[in-house]
Amino acid sequence: MYVCICNAVSEGDVHRCVSAGADTLKQVKNACGWKPGCGSCTARLAEAIGRSRVSASAESTAA
Ligand code: FES
Repeated sequence: MYVCICNAVSEGDVHRCVSAGADTLKQVKNACGWKPGCGSCTARLAEAIGRSRVSASAESTAA
């Protein structure tokens, strides 16, 4: 599922960026190759980052 339609960034892309060390909204945007668009995805992006943090945390404790 796309988090950002303008940049064709998926939830999986966000998860990969967070797993690679991007932590803030700005860092994730940069890591995912975000370009300025309509801006309607900011809330979805923040939610996706939160889910990815929880998932990455669970993966690191399970390893
Ligand atoms: S949906 Fe992300 S900038 Fe438009």
